[in-house]
Amino acid sequence: MMASSSHITLKTRRDLTNMREASRHVGEILLEVRERVRPGITTAELGEVVTRAIGERGVQSSFLGYGPHGLPGYPASICISVNDEIVHGIPGPRVLAEGDVVGLDFGVSVKGWHGDSAVTVPVGRIDEEAARLLEATRESLYRGIAQMVPGHRLSDIGHAVQAHAEGAGFSVVRQFVGHGIGRRLHEPPQIPNFGEPGKGPRLLPGMVFAIEPMVNAGGPDVKMLEDEWTAVTADGSLSAHFEHTVLVTENGPEILTKVPGSH
Ligand code: MF3
Ligand code: CO
Repeated sequence: MMASSSHITLKTRRDLTNMREASRHVGEILLEVRERVRPGITTAELGEVVTRAIGERGVQSSFLGYGPHGLPGYPASICISVNDEIVHGIPGPRVLAEGDVVGLDFGVSVKGWHGDSAVTVPVGRIDEEAARLLEATRESLYRGIAQMVPGHRLSDIGHAVQAHAEGAGFSVVRQFVGHGIGRRLHEPPQIPNFGEPGKGPRLLPGMVFAIEPMVNAGGPDVKMLEDEWTAVTADGSLSAHFEHTVLVTENGPEILTKVPGSH
């Protein structure tokens, strides 16, 4: 989400039944899309795979039409961001090429309850630096998730993400952040991928957050494209994005969007 308030809702067992179901669909559909990624396919074709899967499963897109009230909103059901594109790329005629890295960011709702997840995958063979960026971004997500334990503080998440990403020699994007999720795709709190540990509210069982590090090979600055959605790195460097929807339980984090075989 866009960095821009802070009542954090606690989900009930019934709420969580729906969020688990939505999140499972998200994880499974992301796997279906990943399987189609190869040199020569267009991002629009990947978008069609998603539209079909949503229809077959009878779930609702969380992204289509998303945005400030009164504006047309996001025009697709998945965000596909290639190479220097950080987030919110719109599916279109772009043909994927060997060596590209492609971010797939996707969400659906079931009975009004949302799940949201993203993964960045290689197209064919990629170079070593790109592979290192993907692995560091995925690992930074898991370092953040590991902080989702009752009694820890909100900023412990972003601190862990930043420490890992920067430790690997990369930078974290400041302009977009993770978020609470539930009956709305974006709920309080905002969850930056950076900062000092030990600040903000204490985490409680029943909180659900979408943790989503965006990590750049070069500097952290962002530029917007003319479509008003696609965010790219200001310096043209590669960027990667990984996201999971995660519940805080008494026993630690439960990753709702994780399905067998997913990131
Ligand atoms: N995971 C992305 C986010 O939380 C989803 C964006 S949906 C869009 O920012 F519709 F705004 F693109
Ligand atoms: Co999100």
